[in-house]
Amino acid sequence: MPTVGAVDPMTLWYLARASGLVLLGLLTLNLALGIAIQGGWHPRGWPRFVVQGLHRNLALTAVVLLVIHVVTIELDPFVPVGWWAVLVPFVSPYRPLWLGLGTLSLDLLAAVIVTSLLRAHLRPRLWRAVHWLAYLSWPVALLHSVGTGTDTRLGAIFVYEMACVGLLAATVIFRLARAAHPAPVARGLLMVAAAAAPLAALAWSSSGPLQAGWAKKAGTPTAVLASGGTGTGAPSGAPSGGAGPAETAFTASFSGSAISGGGGQTLTITGRVQGGAGGSLQVVLQTQPLSAGGLAVSSGAATYKPGNRALAYSGTLVGMRGAGLEFSLQAAGVPGVAAELVLSGPVPSSTVAGQLYFGTAPPTFSGGDDGGGGN
Ligand code: HEM
Repeated sequence: MPTVGAVDPMTLWYLARASGLVLLGLLTLNLALGIAIQGGWHPRGWPRFVVQGLHRNLALTAVVLLVIHVVTIELDPFVPVGWWAVLVPFVSPYRPLWLGLGTLSLDLLAAVIVTSLLRAHLRPRLWRAVHWLAYLSWPVALLHSVGTGTDTRLGAIFVYEMACVGLLAATVIFRLARAAHPAPVARGLLMVAAAAAPLAALAWSSSGPLQAGWAKKAGTPTAVLASGGTGTGAPSGAPSGGAGPAETAFTASFSGSAISGGGGQTLTITGRVQGGAGGSLQVVLQTQPLSAGGLAVSSGAATYKPGNRALAYSGTLVGMRGAGLEFSLQAAGVPGVAAELVLSGPVPSSTVAGQLYFGTAPPTFSGGDDGGGGN
Protein backbone atom coordinates (compact mmCIF):
# COMPACT_ATOMS: atom_id res chain seq x y z
CA MET A 1 0.00 0.00 0.00
CA PRO A 2 1.62 3.27 -1.11
CA THR A 3 1.98 5.67 1.79
CA VAL A 4 2.36 9.44 2.22
CA GLY A 5 5.39 9.64 4.49
CA ALA A 6 4.41 6.81 6.86
CA VAL A 7 0.62 7.28 6.49
CA ASP A 8 -1.47 5.27 4.08
CA PRO A 9 -3.87 7.42 2.02
CA MET A 10 -6.95 5.64 3.39
CA THR A 11 -5.98 6.80 6.91
CA LEU A 12 -5.56 10.36 5.58
CA TRP A 13 -9.00 10.12 3.98
CA TYR A 14 -10.68 8.91 7.19
CA LEU A 15 -8.91 11.64 9.19
CA ALA A 16 -9.97 14.31 6.67
CA ARG A 17 -13.62 13.28 6.88
CA ALA A 18 -13.66 12.73 10.65
CA SER A 19 -11.96 16.05 11.40
CA GLY A 20 -14.37 17.84 9.04
CA LEU A 21 -17.40 16.31 10.73
CA VAL A 22 -16.21 17.05 14.27
CA LEU A 23 -15.28 20.57 13.16
CA LEU A 24 -18.77 21.17 11.82
CA GLY A 25 -20.24 20.07 15.15
CA LEU A 26 -17.86 22.28 17.13
CA LEU A 27 -18.62 25.33 14.98
CA THR A 28 -22.33 24.66 15.42
CA LEU A 29 -22.04 24.38 19.21
CA ASN A 30 -19.84 27.45 19.42
CA LEU A 31 -22.09 29.61 17.29
CA ALA A 32 -25.10 28.45 19.29
CA LEU A 33 -23.23 29.30 22.51
CA GLY A 34 -22.27 32.73 21.12
CA ILE A 35 -25.88 33.46 20.17
CA ALA A 36 -27.15 32.29 23.58
CA ILE A 37 -24.53 34.37 25.45
CA GLN A 38 -25.58 37.46 23.44
CA GLY A 39 -29.18 36.61 24.36
CA GLY A 40 -28.17 36.86 28.03
CA TRP A 41 -28.35 33.12 28.60
CA HIS A 42 -25.68 31.16 30.42
CA PRO A 43 -25.76 27.90 32.38
CA ARG A 44 -27.01 28.38 35.99
CA GLY A 45 -24.09 29.00 38.34
CA TRP A 46 -21.61 29.51 35.51
CA PRO A 47 -20.03 32.95 35.75
CA ARG A 48 -20.05 34.85 32.45
CA PHE A 49 -16.22 34.75 32.13
CA VAL A 50 -16.30 30.93 32.30
CA VAL A 51 -18.86 30.76 29.48
CA GLN A 52 -16.82 33.24 27.41
CA GLY A 53 -13.69 31.19 28.10
CA LEU A 54 -15.52 28.08 26.84
CA HIS A 55 -16.58 30.00 23.73
CA ARG A 56 -12.98 31.06 23.06
CA ASN A 57 -11.53 27.57 23.70
CA LEU A 58 -14.10 25.87 21.48
CA ALA A 59 -13.09 28.31 18.74
CA LEU A 60 -9.39 27.52 19.20
CA THR A 61 -10.10 23.77 19.22
CA ALA A 62 -11.98 24.29 15.96
CA VAL A 63 -8.85 25.89 14.50
CA VAL A 64 -6.82 22.78 15.34
CA LEU A 65 -9.44 20.55 13.66
CA LEU A 66 -9.57 22.82 10.64
CA VAL A 67 -5.80 22.54 10.24
CA ILE A 68 -6.01 18.72 10.50
CA HIS A 69 -8.89 18.69 8.00
CA VAL A 70 -7.10 20.84 5.44
CA VAL A 71 -3.66 19.24 5.79
CA THR A 72 -5.01 15.67 5.50
CA ILE A 73 -7.05 16.71 2.47
CA GLU A 74 -4.00 18.27 0.86
CA LEU A 75 -1.72 15.28 1.63
CA ASP A 76 -4.26 12.76 0.33
CA PRO A 77 -2.84 11.83 -3.09
CA PHE A 78 -6.09 10.82 -4.65
CA VAL A 79 -7.65 14.09 -5.78
CA PRO A 80 -5.96 17.31 -6.82
CA VAL A 81 -7.30 19.95 -4.41
CA GLY A 82 -4.26 22.25 -4.67
CA TRP A 83 -2.75 24.32 -1.82
CA TRP A 84 -4.10 27.59 -3.24
CA ALA A 85 -7.57 26.21 -2.59
CA VAL A 86 -6.91 26.37 1.14
CA LEU A 87 -7.11 30.18 1.13
CA VAL A 88 -8.45 31.22 -2.29
CA PRO A 89 -12.05 30.08 -2.79
CA PHE A 90 -13.37 28.47 -5.97
CA VAL A 91 -9.93 27.74 -7.57
CA SER A 92 -9.73 23.98 -6.83
CA PRO A 93 -10.09 21.62 -9.82
CA TYR A 94 -12.01 19.31 -7.47
CA ARG A 95 -15.64 20.41 -6.94
CA PRO A 96 -14.69 24.12 -7.28
CA LEU A 97 -17.96 25.54 -5.92
CA TRP A 98 -18.57 23.17 -3.00
CA LEU A 99 -14.98 22.91 -1.95
CA GLY A 100 -14.62 26.67 -2.45
CA LEU A 101 -17.35 27.22 0.15
CA GLY A 102 -15.14 25.40 2.64
CA THR A 103 -12.31 27.79 1.77
CA LEU A 104 -14.61 30.79 2.11
CA SER A 105 -15.75 29.55 5.51
CA LEU A 106 -12.10 29.14 6.55
CA ASP A 107 -11.31 32.71 5.45
CA LEU A 108 -14.29 34.14 7.35
CA LEU A 109 -13.43 32.10 10.42
CA ALA A 110 -9.82 33.29 10.24
CA ALA A 111 -10.99 36.92 10.25
CA VAL A 112 -13.25 36.25 13.27
CA ILE A 113 -10.53 34.44 15.23
CA VAL A 114 -7.66 36.81 14.42
CA THR A 115 -9.72 39.90 15.39
CA SER A 116 -10.82 38.14 18.60
CA LEU A 117 -7.20 37.41 19.52
CA LEU A 118 -6.40 41.08 18.83
CA ARG A 119 -9.60 42.35 20.47
CA ALA A 120 -7.81 44.50 23.08
CA HIS A 121 -6.20 46.49 20.25
CA LEU A 122 -9.34 46.96 18.17
CA ARG A 123 -12.21 49.41 18.40
CA PRO A 124 -15.21 47.46 19.82
CA ARG A 125 -17.39 48.40 16.80
CA LEU A 126 -14.81 46.96 14.38
CA TRP A 127 -14.42 43.78 16.43
CA ARG A 128 -18.22 43.32 16.60
CA ALA A 129 -18.64 43.96 12.87
CA VAL A 130 -16.05 41.29 11.99
CA HIS A 131 -17.43 38.89 14.62
CA TRP A 132 -20.79 38.96 12.81
CA LEU A 133 -19.02 37.13 9.95
CA ALA A 134 -19.31 34.05 12.15
CA TYR A 135 -23.00 34.02 11.17
CA LEU A 136 -21.96 33.74 7.51
CA SER A 137 -19.10 31.26 7.95
CA TRP A 138 -21.40 28.62 9.43
CA PRO A 139 -24.00 28.17 6.69
CA VAL A 140 -21.19 28.31 4.13
CA ALA A 141 -19.37 25.50 6.00
CA LEU A 142 -22.57 23.43 6.10
CA LEU A 143 -23.15 23.74 2.35
CA HIS A 144 -19.52 22.72 1.84
CA SER A 145 -19.88 19.70 4.11
CA VAL A 146 -23.07 18.39 2.49
CA GLY A 147 -22.01 19.29 -1.08
CA THR A 148 -18.45 17.90 -0.85
CA GLY A 149 -18.55 15.16 1.79
CA THR A 150 -18.36 11.46 1.05
CA ASP A 151 -20.49 10.59 4.06
CA THR A 152 -23.46 12.86 3.40
CA ARG A 153 -25.37 9.86 2.21
CA LEU A 154 -24.66 7.77 5.27
CA GLY A 155 -27.91 7.98 7.25
CA ALA A 156 -26.36 8.80 10.62
CA ILE A 157 -24.05 11.47 9.13
CA PHE A 158 -26.88 13.13 7.25
CA VAL A 159 -29.00 13.19 10.41
CA TYR A 160 -26.03 14.67 12.28
CA GLU A 161 -25.56 17.43 9.69
CA MET A 162 -29.29 18.23 9.70
CA ALA A 163 -29.29 18.19 13.52
CA CYS A 164 -26.63 20.92 13.38
CA VAL A 165 -29.04 23.00 11.28
CA GLY A 166 -31.87 22.27 13.71
CA LEU A 167 -29.84 23.24 16.79
CA LEU A 168 -28.84 26.58 15.31
CA ALA A 169 -32.37 27.32 14.11
CA ALA A 170 -33.69 26.63 17.63
CA THR A 171 -30.99 28.84 19.20
CA VAL A 172 -31.76 31.74 16.85
CA ILE A 173 -35.50 31.42 17.63
CA PHE A 174 -34.71 31.29 21.37
CA ARG A 175 -32.59 34.44 21.05
CA LEU A 176 -35.17 36.34 19.01
CA ALA A 177 -37.97 35.39 21.40
CA ARG A 178 -36.05 37.00 24.30
CA ALA A 179 -34.76 40.00 22.37
CA ALA A 180 -36.15 43.55 22.78
CA HIS A 181 -35.36 44.45 19.20
CA PRO A 182 -35.78 44.50 16.25
CA ALA A 183 -39.52 45.27 16.10
CA PRO A 184 -41.88 42.33 16.85
CA VAL A 185 -42.94 41.91 13.20
CA ALA A 186 -39.34 41.77 12.01
CA ARG A 187 -38.47 39.36 14.81
CA GLY A 188 -41.47 37.23 13.87
CA LEU A 189 -40.33 37.05 10.26
CA LEU A 190 -36.77 36.17 11.30
CA MET A 191 -38.10 33.40 13.54
CA VAL A 192 -40.13 31.97 10.64
CA ALA A 193 -37.01 32.09 8.45
CA ALA A 194 -35.01 30.32 11.16
CA ALA A 195 -37.70 27.66 11.51
CA ALA A 196 -37.72 27.15 7.73
CA ALA A 197 -33.93 26.68 7.55
CA PRO A 198 -33.88 22.94 8.45
CA LEU A 199 -36.65 22.28 5.90
CA ALA A 200 -34.75 24.23 3.24
CA ALA A 201 -31.58 22.24 4.03
CA LEU A 202 -33.49 18.97 3.77
CA ALA A 203 -35.16 20.00 0.49
CA TRP A 204 -31.88 21.09 -1.07
CA SER A 205 -30.02 17.97 0.08
CA SER A 206 -32.62 15.57 -1.21
CA SER A 207 -32.81 17.33 -4.58
CA GLY A 208 -29.02 17.73 -4.85
CA PRO A 209 -26.29 15.86 -2.89
CA LEU A 210 -28.49 12.83 -2.25
CA GLN A 211 -29.46 12.54 -5.90
CA ALA A 212 -28.00 10.30 -8.64
CA GLY A 213 -25.12 11.89 -10.48
CA TRP A 214 -24.25 14.41 -7.76
CA ALA A 215 -20.55 13.53 -7.95
CA LYS A 216 -20.47 14.64 -11.58
CA LYS A 217 -22.81 17.62 -11.08
CA ALA A 218 -20.71 18.79 -8.12
CA GLY A 219 -17.60 18.99 -10.29
CA THR A 220 -15.69 15.79 -9.48
CA PRO A 221 -12.93 15.53 -12.12
CA THR A 222 -13.71 12.90 -14.78
CA ALA A 223 -10.42 11.13 -14.01
CA VAL A 224 -11.59 10.60 -10.41
CA LEU A 225 -15.01 9.38 -11.54
CA ALA A 226 -13.45 7.12 -14.17
CA SER A 227 -11.28 5.43 -11.54
CA GLY A 228 -14.35 4.53 -9.56
CA GLY A 229 -13.67 7.11 -6.88
CA THR A 230 -16.13 9.82 -6.17
CA GLY A 231 -14.69 11.37 -3.08
CA THR A 232 -11.21 12.09 -1.97
CA GLY A 233 -9.02 9.28 -0.81
CA ALA A 234 -10.85 6.47 -2.65
CA PRO A 235 -8.75 3.76 -4.26
CA SER A 236 -5.34 3.83 -2.75
CA GLY A 237 -2.71 1.41 -3.88
CA ALA A 238 -4.38 1.41 -7.29
CA PRO A 239 -3.03 4.50 -8.95
CA SER A 240 -5.43 5.59 -11.60
CA GLY A 241 -4.24 4.27 -14.89
CA GLY A 242 -2.69 1.22 -13.14
CA ALA A 243 -0.56 -1.08 -15.29
CA GLY A 244 -2.98 -3.97 -15.76
CA PRO A 245 -6.09 -3.73 -17.95
CA ALA A 246 -9.19 -2.53 -16.17
CA GLU A 247 -11.75 -5.19 -15.40
CA THR A 248 -14.62 -4.92 -17.86
CA ALA A 249 -17.71 -3.68 -16.10
CA PHE A 250 -20.38 -6.32 -15.61
CA THR A 251 -23.56 -7.20 -13.77
CA ALA A 252 -23.85 -10.74 -12.51
CA SER A 253 -26.00 -12.70 -10.12
CA PHE A 254 -24.71 -13.62 -6.71
CA SER A 255 -25.73 -16.46 -4.45
CA GLY A 256 -24.38 -17.52 -1.12
CA SER A 257 -25.04 -17.11 2.59
CA ALA A 258 -25.23 -14.24 5.07
CA ILE A 259 -24.25 -15.38 8.53
CA SER A 260 -24.54 -13.14 11.59
CA GLY A 261 -21.84 -13.43 14.26
CA GLY A 262 -20.62 -11.96 17.55
CA GLY A 263 -24.14 -11.48 18.94
CA GLY A 264 -25.20 -9.54 15.85
CA GLN A 265 -22.00 -7.48 15.70
CA THR A 266 -20.93 -8.82 12.31
CA LEU A 267 -22.63 -10.11 9.17
CA THR A 268 -20.52 -12.19 6.80
CA ILE A 269 -21.86 -12.57 3.28
CA THR A 270 -20.00 -15.16 1.20
CA GLY A 271 -20.88 -16.53 -2.21
CA ARG A 272 -20.24 -17.13 -5.86
CA VAL A 273 -20.66 -14.74 -8.75
CA GLN A 274 -22.35 -16.26 -11.76
CA GLY A 275 -21.73 -14.32 -14.98
CA GLY A 276 -19.36 -11.45 -15.70
CA ALA A 277 -15.87 -12.30 -14.41
CA GLY A 278 -17.38 -14.98 -12.13
CA GLY A 279 -15.36 -15.89 -9.06
CA SER A 280 -16.15 -15.36 -5.38
CA LEU A 281 -17.14 -12.47 -3.19
CA GLN A 282 -16.94 -12.04 0.56
CA VAL A 283 -18.38 -9.11 2.45
CA VAL A 284 -17.91 -8.54 6.19
CA LEU A 285 -20.14 -5.89 7.77
CA GLN A 286 -19.95 -4.39 11.28
CA THR A 287 -23.54 -4.35 12.41
CA GLN A 288 -25.79 -3.55 15.38
CA PRO A 289 -29.12 -5.30 15.87
CA LEU A 290 -31.96 -2.76 15.89
CA SER A 291 -34.63 -2.97 18.61
CA ALA A 292 -37.25 -2.72 15.85
CA GLY A 293 -35.58 -5.66 14.09
CA GLY A 294 -33.07 -5.65 11.28
CA LEU A 295 -29.47 -4.54 11.46
CA ALA A 296 -27.73 -1.15 11.36
CA VAL A 297 -24.50 -1.27 9.38
CA SER A 298 -21.64 0.92 10.61
CA SER A 299 -18.85 -0.15 8.29
CA GLY A 300 -17.76 -2.98 6.06
CA ALA A 301 -15.19 -4.46 3.73
CA ALA A 302 -15.32 -6.69 0.68
CA THR A 303 -12.99 -9.02 -1.15
CA TYR A 304 -13.79 -10.06 -4.70
CA LYS A 305 -11.76 -12.66 -6.55
CA PRO A 306 -12.66 -12.75 -10.25
CA GLY A 307 -12.76 -16.26 -11.62
CA ASN A 308 -10.72 -15.33 -14.68
CA ARG A 309 -7.75 -13.54 -13.15
CA ALA A 310 -5.12 -14.15 -10.51
CA LEU A 311 -5.89 -11.08 -8.48
CA ALA A 312 -8.18 -10.04 -5.70
CA TYR A 313 -9.99 -6.78 -5.25
CA SER A 314 -10.51 -5.53 -1.73
CA GLY A 315 -11.98 -2.39 -0.34
CA THR A 316 -14.34 -0.71 2.05
CA LEU A 317 -18.00 0.07 2.23
CA VAL A 318 -18.46 3.66 1.06
CA GLY A 319 -22.23 3.91 0.95
CA MET A 320 -25.57 2.21 1.17
CA ARG A 321 -28.79 2.80 -0.71
CA GLY A 322 -31.77 0.59 -0.14
CA ALA A 323 -30.56 -3.01 -0.20
CA GLY A 324 -27.42 -1.93 -2.07
CA LEU A 325 -23.96 -2.06 -0.43
CA GLU A 326 -21.47 0.16 -2.26
CA PHE A 327 -17.77 -0.59 -2.18
CA SER A 328 -14.69 1.16 -3.48
CA LEU A 329 -12.43 -1.73 -4.50
CA GLN A 330 -8.72 -1.81 -5.31
CA ALA A 331 -6.36 -4.41 -6.64
CA ALA A 332 -2.64 -4.18 -7.22
CA GLY A 333 -1.66 -2.81 -10.61
CA VAL A 334 -5.14 -2.22 -11.95
CA PRO A 335 -7.44 0.78 -11.67
CA GLY A 336 -9.76 0.86 -8.68
CA VAL A 337 -13.41 0.19 -9.30
CA ALA A 338 -16.73 0.80 -7.67
CA ALA A 339 -18.96 -2.18 -7.03
CA GLU A 340 -22.38 -2.62 -5.56
CA LEU A 341 -23.94 -5.76 -4.13
CA VAL A 342 -27.73 -5.57 -4.10
CA LEU A 343 -29.23 -8.33 -2.02
CA SER A 344 -32.80 -9.55 -2.40
CA GLY A 345 -34.52 -11.19 0.55
CA PRO A 346 -33.96 -10.96 4.30
CA VAL A 347 -30.55 -11.21 6.00
CA PRO A 348 -29.12 -12.95 7.99
CA SER A 349 -30.04 -16.12 6.14
CA SER A 350 -28.22 -19.32 5.20
CA THR A 351 -29.11 -18.64 1.56
CA VAL A 352 -29.05 -15.20 0.00
CA ALA A 353 -29.22 -14.09 -3.59
CA GLY A 354 -28.63 -10.80 -5.31
CA GLN A 355 -26.88 -8.91 -8.05
CA LEU A 356 -23.28 -7.73 -8.21
CA TYR A 357 -22.75 -4.53 -10.17
CA PHE A 358 -19.04 -4.29 -10.94
CA GLY A 359 -17.84 -0.97 -12.39
CA THR A 360 -21.39 -0.09 -13.21
CA ALA A 361 -24.38 1.15 -11.25
CA PRO A 362 -27.69 -0.61 -10.65
CA PRO A 363 -30.72 0.68 -12.52
CA THR A 364 -31.57 4.19 -11.22
CA PHE A 365 -32.13 4.46 -7.55
CA SER A 366 -33.39 7.60 -5.89
CA GLY A 367 -30.16 9.08 -4.49
CA GLY A 368 -27.81 6.79 -6.65
CA ASP A 369 -24.37 7.78 -7.97
CA ASP A 370 -22.52 7.55 -11.34
CA GLY A 371 -20.92 4.19 -10.64
CA GLY A 372 -19.20 5.77 -7.63
CA GLY A 373 -19.22 4.78 -4.00
CA GLY A 374 -19.75 7.89 -1.84
CA ASN A 375 -21.55 10.93 -3.29
C1 HEM B 1 -14.59 25.90 8.37
C2 HEM B 1 -14.22 25.28 7.31
C3 HEM B 1 -14.54 23.85 6.96
C4 HEM B 1 -15.44 22.96 7.53
C5 HEM B 1 -16.38 23.16 8.72
C6 HEM B 1 -15.35 21.71 6.77
C7 HEM B 1 -16.11 20.58 7.04
C8 HEM B 1 -16.19 19.48 6.20
C9 HEM B 1 -17.10 18.35 6.38
C10 HEM B 1 -18.08 18.17 7.53
C11 HEM B 1 -16.90 17.49 5.33
C12 HEM B 1 -17.67 16.19 5.03
C13 HEM B 1 -16.90 15.01 5.49
C14 HEM B 1 -17.64 13.70 5.24
O1 HEM B 1 -18.65 13.65 4.54
O2 HEM B 1 -17.17 12.71 5.76
C15 HEM B 1 -15.88 18.07 4.49
C16 HEM B 1 -15.39 17.47 3.34
C17 HEM B 1 -14.34 17.98 2.61
N1 HEM B 1 -13.65 19.17 2.85
FE1 HEM B 1 -14.01 20.50 4.31
N2 HEM B 1 -14.40 21.84 5.78
C18 HEM B 1 -13.91 23.13 5.86
C19 HEM B 1 -12.93 23.68 5.07
C20 HEM B 1 -12.32 23.02 4.02
C21 HEM B 1 -11.25 23.58 3.23
C22 HEM B 1 -10.61 24.96 3.44
C23 HEM B 1 -10.91 22.63 2.28
C24 HEM B 1 -9.85 22.75 1.20
C25 HEM B 1 -8.65 22.43 1.29
C26 HEM B 1 -11.78 21.48 2.50
C27 HEM B 1 -11.77 20.32 1.73
C28 HEM B 1 -12.69 19.28 1.87
C29 HEM B 1 -12.75 18.12 0.96
C30 HEM B 1 -11.88 17.85 -0.25
C31 HEM B 1 -13.79 17.30 1.44
C32 HEM B 1 -14.28 15.95 0.87
C33 HEM B 1 -13.71 14.84 1.74
C34 HEM B 1 -14.51 13.56 1.51
O3 HEM B 1 -15.54 13.46 2.17
O4 HEM B 1 -14.15 12.73 0.70
N3 HEM B 1 -12.62 21.74 3.57
N4 HEM B 1 -15.45 19.28 5.03
